[in-house]
Amino acid sequence: MLDRIAQLEEEALHEIKAAQDMEALKELRVRYLGKKGALTALLRRMGELDPEQRPAAGRKANNLRKKIEELLGCKEEELREAAAAARLEEERIDVTLPGAPFKLGRKHPLTLVLEEITAIFTGLGFQVARGPEIESEYYNFEALNLPADHPARDMQDSFYFTPQILLRTHTSPVQVRTMELTAPRLPVRIIAPGKVYRRDDDATHSPMFHQVEGLAVDRGVTFADLKGTLLLFAREMFGPEQRIRLRPSFFPFTEPSAEVDIACIICGGEGCRTCGHSGWLEILGCGMVHPRVLEVSGYDPEDVTGFAFGMGVERIAMLKYGIDDIRLLFSNDLRFLRQFR
Ligand code: FA5
Ligand code: MG
Repeated sequence: MLDRIAQLEEEALHEIKAAQDMEALKELRVRYLGKKGALTALLRRMGELDPEQRPAAGRKANNLRKKIEELLGCKEEELREAAAAARLEEERIDVTLPGAPFKLGRKHPLTLVLEEITAIFTGLGFQVARGPEIESEYYNFEALNLPADHPARDMQDSFYFTPQILLRTHTSPVQVRTMELTAPRLPVRIIAPGKVYRRDDDATHSPMFHQVEGLAVDRGVTFADLKGTLLLFAREMFGPEQRIRLRPSFFPFTEPSAEVDIACIICGGEGCRTCGHSGWLEILGCGMVHPRVLEVSGYDPEDVTGFAFGMGVERIAMLKYGIDDIRLLFSNDLRFLRQFR
């Protein structure tokens, strides 16, 4: 009997040690300690022993039961820990692996230029004003001294919704809209950036483009203030050596009027496709606010004067970055857009 107990112990030790998983362990528990298990069978046979041998054999058998239980418990713990460790290893995150690249967008060249223009003029004390892109015929033309049937309306071929409603052809309507709100307060100093629309389409003309309107109204504002402001702007934008040229021109809403050209940066003034082989590129129209425009907007032209200008943002971007076709700005080609920051 004692031999059998020792043999059982050896067997059990060996098998529990070798168990690979919980399933095997469960099976061993049944095999040794279960109702029909080996140890149970042994205990049942205690009666066959001599009475004086029973206590010793009983103690041994009970010790073995405890030992097996302990071993099973230890092994179970061991297997559980191994399983947890294996799972951890499997799910491990390698923080030294390179991350998935995160694509950063960047600003469109027109946005960059618009921000720069805005910064220059706000630095001079101008505030930013805005107006609607869908505009009434009154603000786009009539209030700007461009009556119906006036031939100057032909300079801005337009997209009409109805005879009274159109896509604004310039930002000049914001002059009138602003002065209606500020009159009779002085001074007025605003810029009005935004989109405008015309039936144009070639290397330097787009059907949708951007303008920045400028307006300054006060007592004693002169043409010299206008020229000085624009020269300062050109030098801030293009560098201290930048030359500008004022050409006499005509706008019904300014008197006198001028157009301002900038020495072509693409060809250095030699003449190229972009500047129409003239060496100069027109960037804006300007002049002294017409007395009639001041009047319809609520200011007394006997008391105050003002200057105004409207510049083409695409033209400025093209000069600044050496872009030779305006359509590149709107074709959304990333190879082009990626070059600007
Ligand atoms: C005007 O639009 C006037 N409202 C400017 C003005 C404002 C004059 C205030 C007096 C006082 P003009 O049509 O010349 O003017 O356009 C102004 C600028 O917009 C041009 O110098 C040019 O740089 C730009 N421009 C005009 N048409 C286009 C176009 N189709 N695509 C891109 N830029 C254009
Ligand atoms: Mg013009």
